[in-house]
Amino acid sequence: MASNIQTLLVLVLATLAIFMIPSNAQLTPNFYKKVCPQALPIIRSVVHREIIRERRIGASLLRLHFHDCFVNGCDGSVLLDDTRNFTGEKTALPNLNSIRGLEVVDEIKEAVDKACKRPVVSCADILATAARDSVAILGGPHLRYSVLLGRRDARTASKDAANANLPPPFFSFSQLLSNFKFHGLDLKDLVALSGGHTLGFARCTTFRDRIYNDTNINPTFAASLRKTCPRVGAGNNLAPLDPTPATVDTSYFKELLCKKGLLHSDQELYKGNGSESDKLVELYSRNPFAFARDFKASMIKMGNMKPLTGNKGEIRRNCRRVNN
Ligand code: HEM
Repeated sequence: MASNIQTLLVLVLATLAIFMIPSNAQLTPNFYKKVCPQALPIIRSVVHREIIRERRIGASLLRLHFHDCFVNGCDGSVLLDDTRNFTGEKTALPNLNSIRGLEVVDEIKEAVDKACKRPVVSCADILATAARDSVAILGGPHLRYSVLLGRRDARTASKDAANANLPPPFFSFSQLLSNFKFHGLDLKDLVALSGGHTLGFARCTTFRDRIYNDTNINPTFAASLRKTCPRVGAGNNLAPLDPTPATVDTSYFKELLCKKGLLHSDQELYKGNGSESDKLVELYSRNPFAFARDFKASMIKMGNMKPLTGNKGEIRRNCRRVNN
């Protein structure tokens, strides 16, 4: 009898212990409140300064967080440099000659570690916070949300996973949706987060096929882009993803209604056939508050993807390499 009770007690304690393992810890908005209250204001001030220096940097920082989260979760893996015996994600097709803002991340990390007097803020949390701040700085306070924190940094990265997980611009609607579903996101997340294309630019290589071969495109719009992006060459020439590339607004969605999406994948979200996706594009095009509400909710959802917490991973001292 006594030994039965003992066994039961051990079982109960073991179950409790499993639930208390810190690696199951949730992200929280107050993660750095006690250990380094200056962390968030510092990140914001560096982001602000860099955006004033170059408006596009906000777009680039937002995209970095997306490219981090979609490849094995938001764990700072995108930031790791290649070494002699390690190939990271920077040379994967969607990232090569394309991701930007890496020096700004270094600058933030240096400033934050200096203020906190030791490395307590993870590179993954820096990306999540810099993305949130960029959007609020370029869009206004109604786009600001409370960013969840406590992510830790990966000690690995995968070029293959980056190639397999980041959606390319030639994807069809159903490919985009299955890619997002694979990451635990739904149709509303797909349309709202694609609204990230309210900021920034794309290279000719990413939209060339669309402007010469797609039919679901405004002919005047296609003709004017062909001047920037010839049939051959000039692959790095840039075009804005919407007419106001340094402002978070709803013009990205308005353009989709007139078949003026820059990327094939953008226009896939609106075909004018009354689909659920069409309805979301129409809603966001006419209602900035609905867009802000859903964009913020989806950013938080994306930021929650498979974070390393508790004793998993590490807090890198330098975002470009794992600690020794
Ligand atoms: C839905 C699938 C998506 C596809 C196929 C896609 C594809 C692309 C491509 C091809 C570019 C241009 C890259 C270049 O020319 O080097 C780009 C830029 C960009 N993307 Fe996406 N993207 C997607 C989703 C997202 C999401 C979810 C976000 C953020 C929430 C985002 C934010 C951005 C930003 C801000 C830029 C401009 C970056 C800059 O100017 O530096 N994208 N995207």
